[in-house]
Amino acid sequence: MTARPPGPHDSLPNTHDRKDSTMNDHAPRISVIGTGYLGATHAAAMAEMGFDVVGVDADPKKVQALSRGDVPFFEPGLPELLRRHVDSGRLRFTSDLADAVAVSDVHFVCVGTPQRVGSFAANLDHVQEATRAVAKAMTHDGVIVGKSTVPVGTAATLRAMIEPLIAEGVHAELIWNPEFLREGMAVEDTLHPDRIVLGGTTESSEAVMRRVYAAPIAVGAPVITCDLPTAELVKVSANAFLATKISFVNAIAEVCDAAGADVSVLADALGHDARIGRRFLDAGLGFGGGCLPKDIRALMHRSAELGAFSAASLLQQVDEINMGRRQLIIDRAVEALYGSVLNRRIAVLGAAFKPHTDDVRDSPALNVAAALHLRGAQVVVWDPEAVPTARRDFPTLSYAQDLESAVRGADLTLVLTEWPEFVQADPAVLARLVRDPQVVDARNCLPAAAWEEAGWTVLRSGAPDADAPQRPRSRTEARSPRRVAELVAR
Ligand code: UGA
Repeated sequence: MTARPPGPHDSLPNTHDRKDSTMNDHAPRISVIGTGYLGATHAAAMAEMGFDVVGVDADPKKVQALSRGDVPFFEPGLPELLRRHVDSGRLRFTSDLADAVAVSDVHFVCVGTPQRVGSFAANLDHVQEATRAVAKAMTHDGVIVGKSTVPVGTAATLRAMIEPLIAEGVHAELIWNPEFLREGMAVEDTLHPDRIVLGGTTESSEAVMRRVYAAPIAVGAPVITCDLPTAELVKVSANAFLATKISFVNAIAEVCDAAGADVSVLADALGHDARIGRRFLDAGLGFGGGCLPKDIRALMHRSAELGAFSAASLLQQVDEINMGRRQLIIDRAVEALYGSVLNRRIAVLGAAFKPHTDDVRDSPALNVAAALHLRGAQVVVWDPEAVPTARRDFPTLSYAQDLESAVRGADLTLVLTEWPEFVQADPAVLARLVRDPQVVDARNCLPAAAWEEAGWTVLRSGAPDADAPQRPRSRTEARSPRRVAELVAR
């Protein structure tokens, strides 16, 4: 017989009616508060691991959609997982938090912590509200598990905040268990976490959490137990490190540009050093999304509050370098169009902040597209998944139906998100559609030789630019009568 990871019900009588049942006999029943990317994925993954799960969201439309098995955002594999467990009855969704908490033992708080308006600090309103509501609703012993990304010190404040709210005779513990899932890989990352961090546990809450994560632990996921502030900081430091790695390679890309070196080859060579590693060394347009930018800013803010100025100034620089990448690509586009984008048709390939998601939060691609649009370019955007979300946030941009219609008649093509659809596109076919076969490969993702062979001029950052000497050096040169005549004659 082959060994299998222990299931949540192994050797556990299923008694759902005892006040002190959490820590003892039956499989912990789970509530997940907040059903965004993190919560919806976590709820479905917990059901997949064999638990009874109730997902809670204040938005009734979201609850209705999820209850039908519909995921209101694009995340590969999640609709299938969700539908399977909604159908099996192991997973349900409700707006009634008190009801969900009453039938559960472990309560995961997965609500958002967006950047506060007018500040770099995180907005903790939702976390406080959700935690308070759970504490008030607890009718029996249980563990409140913070999963949201929060500034260090938050969990201790929450502990103090809920203490007077817990009903007499109920034993409640608040611990922190940060999440490291990546959008586009959320299901895989949640089912097979590369580490499980448990902050502020006691012996009994650690035992409960080890049962909750029995499946990944059985296949080797390391468990790190620590205090609350360490757990909170592990999460933001991980994102800060990833952001720093990206900004590092982008800073080196600038040196490569100046020196005529190739940053992609350099990154490959660096990556062979196991101490460095190749991942997150892709130079280009830099990072965006709902996590890295806001998390480094919140950490910058919190570090400064705590007087830890080295971290604050390092992250400031990381952010500056990152935002500079967007400007660099805008400048490249202007330069490629000889100094002015006015009324020039620009095909923007990519709207999502990275491939395999429809998330456009702080998307570098849309930032560039919008800036060029505001300078008078006719920008046409195409993305395999993110057109509807992009249209919602940037309704004044034009959107194409497909790749071919996006590039048709383009004076310039920008590849701003490295979707496989763009990387694998046939450059010869696209070259026949555009007005001028010049592409800014802002993610250094295209097979440049094949594109050049198909007649394209490929402009990359951090790569030797074969065409550079022939390009106009200045605005005056760009506007010279000869240049204008050339353009008109095309
Ligand atoms: C990030 C972290 O990777 C997760 O571990 C974390 O759990 C998550 O934030 C979170 O806090 O919830 P995610 O926002 O999904 O995940 O995106 P990443 O895959 O980290 O990519 C972030 C950005 O960096 C993207 O815009 C991507 O294009 C960019 N990037 C990534 C680069 O510019 N270069 C690289 O080499 C890698």
